[in-house]
Amino acid sequence: MQSGRARIGDYCIEETSDFIVLKQAFELRLTTWKTEGYQPEGSTAVEWSDDWDKRARHWIARAGNERIVAAARMTFHESLSNLPDRITFIPERLGGCVLPFVILSRLVVSPDHRRHGLCKLLDRIRIDAAIEMGAKTALGSVRQNLLREAMLRKGGWKDVYELGHSMLGQHVPCVVLALDLANVNRGLL
Ligand SMILES: CC(C)(COP(=O)(O)OP(=O)(O)OC[C@H]1O[C@@H](n2cnc3c(N)ncnc32)[C@H](O)[C@@H]1OP(=O)(O)O)[C@@H](O)C(=O)NCCC(=O)NCCS
Repeated sequence: MQSGRARIGDYCIEETSDFIVLKQAFELRLTTWKTEGYQPEGSTAVEWSDDWDKRARHWIARAGNERIVAAARMTFHESLSNLPDRITFIPERLGGCVLPFVILSRLVVSPDHRRHGLCKLLDRIRIDAAIEMGAKTALGSVRQNLLREAMLRKGGWKDVYELGHSMLGQHVPCVVLALDLANVNRGLL
């Protein structure tokens, strides 16, 4: 697999830093999360982005018709001093995680394009990229009891800590999970 690019069925995954492409990915984040009943904090009417998007690595998946149907990002961290999503990635609670680490976040797959392996491939590409960059650990956060949590646990991700977020006035239990990259073979996730 060429680094950063992959095909699965009619879909093509590529790494991108093109601002116009990324804006479409940020729109996809918002429309996808809205279908899950959640409007992320700080999102504008049409897209969802934060300052970390300028420094992150991004991958997108295109369907055969070129439409962007999935997206995901990864940030690289050599210290605990400045992390994205500060209410989730809490430096005082991450002391046991070996640096440098990556944070995998902003994964979305358009509802019409689920169950085609896009999530698994986006995870694999990001983990491969993290190992190439010299990261020792990958971190992610998920809402508890959803499919995504089970997927990560099946892939060897382990608990770091539990926390609760407030979404639309409801308490939503979440968990921060970590994957020890020393025990992961490139391309074999
Ligand atoms: C969770 C999500 C990313 C999964 O994406 P996806 O591209 O459909 O997942 P994949 O096709 O790669 O499937 C991965 C695994 O989950 C399983 N799976 C996917 N959807 C499933 C479903 N609805 N029911 C049961 N299993 C399912 C697949 O069979 C596969 O299992 P396998 O490893 O045994 O083969 C997608 O549903 C989504 O975007 N949800 C909303 C946003 C979200 O939750 N983002 C994650 C934030 S942490």
